[in-house]
Amino acid sequence: MKSVGIDKPKTLKKVEKPAAPLITEPVVEPVVKPVVKKTLVSGIKPTGQLTLGNYIGALKQFVMLQDELEDTEFFIFIADLHAITTPQDRQELKKNIRSVAALYIACGLNPEKVNLFIQSEVAEHAALGYIMESTAYIGEMERMTQYKDKKVNQVEGVRTSLLTYPALMAADILLYDANVVPIGDDQKQHLELTRNLAMRFNNAYGETFVVPEGFFPKTGARIKSLTEPLKKMEKSAENPKSYILLLDDLGLIRNKIKSAVTDSDGVVKFDLKNKPGIANLLTIYASLSEYSIKDLEKKYEKSNYATFKEDLAEVVVDAIRPIQKKYFEIINDSKLDDILTAGAERARLLASRKLLKVYKKLGLGRIR
Ligand code: TYM
Repeated sequence: MKSVGIDKPKTLKKVEKPAAPLITEPVVEPVVKPVVKKTLVSGIKPTGQLTLGNYIGALKQFVMLQDELEDTEFFIFIADLHAITTPQDRQELKKNIRSVAALYIACGLNPEKVNLFIQSEVAEHAALGYIMESTAYIGEMERMTQYKDKKVNQVEGVRTSLLTYPALMAADILLYDANVVPIGDDQKQHLELTRNLAMRFNNAYGETFVVPEGFFPKTGARIKSLTEPLKKMEKSAENPKSYILLLDDLGLIRNKIKSAVTDSDGVVKFDLKNKPGIANLLTIYASLSEYSIKDLEKKYEKSNYATFKEDLAEVVVDAIRPIQKKYFEIINDSKLDDILTAGAERARLLASRKLLKVYKKLGLGRIR
């Protein structure tokens, strides 16, 4: 083919071919590992103190995943905006926010690996929350079982945010393009809604959000009340014997387990329908030890409930003791503030980029 418009050089220098090397070195192709970076997001509401249910269903999972997932960036936060969906005392809330932060570290989260931050310090959460409210329908919100359960206890009136808070939760997750969201069973419905909102937005405005997957513990996704084992263990329950707090006195923890409701059958067997109390205690035991529920049924085949409960009490105390020790070391340390400041900074960087993209897709402001 003729080249057009390019002048050939008038004189061409003769280039000497280099002599072939005597020994040819093997060509080593560089191994290029694909960097698959994923994101994990989760949070805990700082209303009251954290329970053993929070630990088994969430915190313990975060720590396990932190050690297992190498290619994943973690964003774990204190969901303080979610706390004000119901009335809170200002001083108590302040205390609880710091307490949850310290418990994250005390339970084993490594701030070198995990971005820990306070939700309200990253303003983009509330901004995207509003956009998620503008993506969701009221009917979807009204169907949320947590809303239906919680609204009946609101003596001063039901705050609008109690209804719309799953939109904020969706924003918490979608801001960071989370692939994985470790949560207990009670948050499943909120995650499903998050997935629907992400898909709805993507369909309407083009690919914007990653559709996240939930990650649920194999055992312990729903730890039950010690006094009413058909209900979830909850920090807001009236009877303090129904829950174990991570910061409860160790003697009190032993007593709470000893007085946990069981049945008159006397057999240590996992039967959710007929023996919910024992099934719950077996679940707690298996979650905190190397034993499976099957192993435990065998181990306690010939034992009475008192022996089983005594052993379980020691397992729980052994799990909680080191957490409390670390907690009291860190709670008043300014290092905790440094960790939260650094975490919020990193979170803000990613969240602001995402929010800008969303505004642009929606045609908000003057962003081109
Ligand atoms: P919250 O604060 O009620 O609970 C925090 C985490 O603990 C789990 N959990 C339990 N797991 C097993 N057994 C129990 N009895 C038990 N009680 C609580 C919860 O499932 C949860 O994983 N809306 C959330 C906080 C949140 C969030 C988010 C979570 C806000 N934004 C984004 C994940 C991603 C809540 O109120 O969780």
